[in-house]
Amino acid sequence: MRQAAGTLLLFGATGDLSQRMLLPSLCALAADDLLPEGLRIVGTARHGYSDAEFRNFAREAVEKFLPAQRRGRMADFLNRLSYQPLDATNPEGYRALAEKVGGGDVAIFLSMAPSLFEATISGLADCGLAGDGTRIGLEKPLGHDLASSRDINDAVAAAFPEDRIFRVDHYLGKETVQNLIALRFGNIMFEPLWNAQHIEHVQITVGETVGLESRAEFYDQTGALRDMVQNHMLQLLALVAMELPVTFDAGAVRDEKVKVLRALRPVAAGESVTGQYRGGASGGKIVPGYDEELKAESDTETFVAIKAHVDNWRWKGVPFYLRTGKRMPTRVTEIVIQFRPVPHSIFAGARLKANRLVIGIQPQEDVTLTLMAKVPGLGKGMALREIPLDIAMPDALTGHERRMAYERLLLDLIHGDQTLFVRRDEVEAQWSWIDRIRARWQEEGLTPKPYSAGSWGPSAAIALAERDGVSWHE
Ligand code: BG6
Repeated sequence: MRQAAGTLLLFGATGDLSQRMLLPSLCALAADDLLPEGLRIVGTARHGYSDAEFRNFAREAVEKFLPAQRRGRMADFLNRLSYQPLDATNPEGYRALAEKVGGGDVAIFLSMAPSLFEATISGLADCGLAGDGTRIGLEKPLGHDLASSRDINDAVAAAFPEDRIFRVDHYLGKETVQNLIALRFGNIMFEPLWNAQHIEHVQITVGETVGLESRAEFYDQTGALRDMVQNHMLQLLALVAMELPVTFDAGAVRDEKVKVLRALRPVAAGESVTGQYRGGASGGKIVPGYDEELKAESDTETFVAIKAHVDNWRWKGVPFYLRTGKRMPTRVTEIVIQFRPVPHSIFAGARLKANRLVIGIQPQEDVTLTLMAKVPGLGKGMALREIPLDIAMPDALTGHERRMAYERLLLDLIHGDQTLFVRRDEVEAQWSWIDRIRARWQEEGLTPKPYSAGSWGPSAAIALAERDGVSWHE
């Protein structure tokens, strides 16, 4: 861990992410006295705000997006803020920015269009804001394929060494995602079973009820595979499948994750399904179809299901079923570990169900292990039933604040801890797997199948799992 930064410099400070997540997270950290004493926060963007106007902007964002009970010490938070207008493409402006920042260690967070990255990095380097005491956080999208992500990585690497680059995947900032690491490596009972001998398959679902929201242009150029699978879902998969890291630090954890990502087998014909929603009912309301929302016809997928394989000893023959989509029936992110059945049942007539571990990431933060148990009673023989062993996190850990993912990530950036950030080799392994899927879709002329908003995607996605005798967990 490095020395804590004295200044946090936020690019894109007036943007959507800043309003919804970054400023509220910083305010929540200030409220809990978790920001380093004296940390200053300098916002920058094109907008011609004064310091006072930016503070007002920040107050409004916080009032809108942070629950009232988490807004203590608002004045302390606002006093830390200042603002410097900047056109990131104009090299002239960076000197004034550097003056505003002043000396000391600086943590920089870029939340802006990737097309501006190169100009921004060289502006930072020229004005002396890329030296030893600086580190830089990069928000997605980091490219749209392997080649473009390499370009971005090269541009950043020209000014910052890898140990000062913090690539954000906000899923890694979620408490329950970190809890997956705790569960796997803080308990003796899972590791001996965590392999192909005892696990039949894994499911990872990220369902959203929202549609296009306000990002039609971006989303239509991106699609579900690149928006959700390339980053968040592959990070979840890597955490489920990785070997035991030697220690919980950035080098060891990321070394293990990247081995999994490199072991992903190219997806074969028939192992992926894409869909696009039509009108229907989702999240309790009637919603239009994708084309109607977009006001154009499009071949962009809003749903994808994939049968993935990790080609190594531990996971030989264990499919990882992944699915994500917009306009699903409910918002849910969960990981299902389906264990194998017992090799032989001694209970004549009883139907034994194999154990299952369900790790709920959101909105429910809970871990459920289903076990077989005896049904009470004096009947002949032994009647068994599947019962859940349920740990609801907020109940088990009451008194602990539910935090936004960005609170953890901003704090780690400020303190220089890279464990929950994505290394270059991971991003590139992710992209190379994704690029091959897209190339296959193109070769096969695969276009998304329609599904009704409020359903779990096209029927082909159900068939993808059912063919193997597997049902998606619902
Ligand atoms: C973002 C995607 O990375 O993650 C969005 O661009 C998606 O399309 C979002 O809605 C989901 O994040 P969360 O934290 O709400 O699951």
